[in-house]
Amino acid sequence: MKFSIVGCGRTGTNLAVYLTKAGFIPSGFFSKTRSSAEKAHHAVNNVGQIFDTAEHACQNSDILFITTPDDAIENVCSYIASKNGFKHPMSVFHLSGALSSKILNSAQKSGAIKSDINIGSIHPLQSFTPYEKEQKSPFSGINISVEGSEGAVKIGKKIVTALKANYFTIPTDAKMLYHAAAVVASNFLVTLEDFAINLLQKADLSEEKAYEILEPLIMGTLNNIKNKGSVHALTGPVARGDSDIVSSHINAIEKDMPDFSLLYKVMGKYTLNIAKQRKEISSEQISKLSKLFN
Ligand SMILES: NC(=O)c1ccc[n+]([C@@H]2O[C@H](COP(=O)([O-])OP(=O)(O)OC[C@H]3O[C@@H](n4cnc5c(N)ncnc54)[C@H](OP(=O)(O)O)[C@@H]3O)[C@@H](O)[C@H]2O)c1
Repeated sequence: MKFSIVGCGRTGTNLAVYLTKAGFIPSGFFSKTRSSAEKAHHAVNNVGQIFDTAEHACQNSDILFITTPDDAIENVCSYIASKNGFKHPMSVFHLSGALSSKILNSAQKSGAIKSDINIGSIHPLQSFTPYEKEQKSPFSGINISVEGSEGAVKIGKKIVTALKANYFTIPTDAKMLYHAAAVVASNFLVTLEDFAINLLQKADLSEEKAYEILEPLIMGTLNNIKNKGSVHALTGPVARGDSDIVSSHINAIEKDMPDFSLLYKVMGKYTLNIAKQRKEISSEQISKLSKLFN
């Protein structure tokens, strides 16, 4: 299968290299800056061609990957459609986590027969850095979501398997929720740990020492979630229904980090929902905790 890349940055170039290693054939490269397209072309040993326009870059390929920043994908797609740049049939993918395949609708509308252009998104749960020749594959063993039209999902699964990654599918309309989940799991974990480190610094520990003492606790908790699930991994004052301790926490945080006592309360409110599922705390304890968090 021949493929083209429009948007030759971190993700586009890595994708081009590892798809080529997997036996896909690079056909066209286009990027806003010609030197970026040249770098990607060079990374695949100069197979395929560099083009001066996006519509020419995809005319000979079976698959087009639009790997521009998220806010440019829809416009790039409709621009190619306006120039009748899509080959029929072909598949068009983007790699955004938050956006769905719907933003590629203009590609389908440009087809003589609507169904002869597959539109989809594949989102690698990975953080890409600029491609370097000696690096290991950033795709190997990772998880990649696949979403889109029936044909796109079929081809998306083949692409993910060829990249030696694992695929899972999600409904098109759930794409934003899926991305919010990834942000909560990864970015907000950083936020929470930073909050904890800050509290320990208020308790006179250095940042390094704070992380050092928290690390086994964090890793142990992740391990418990993996082995027992969140409900049974939960420990601490909310799980025990200890409203006196929780109330003292809130007072201490209000004194030293007043802007963030609300963060503690919101997290507590969600935690109380988990604790309730254990059915180990009384309705009186639930009501006392609930009052503290609201
Ligand atoms: N980076 C990650 O870790 C990661 C992870 C998963 C998914 N993604 C997704 O991958 C996509 C690309 O992200 P990225 O991080 O690889 O971005 P990036 O490194 O900034 O690369 C984007 C590339 O697109 C080019 N470009 C910008 N506007 C363009 C246009 N109108 N036409 C053609 N080319 C254009 C850029 O400019 P130049 O040609 O000037 O260089 C750049 O080379 C996004 O949808 C992102 O959500 C990224």
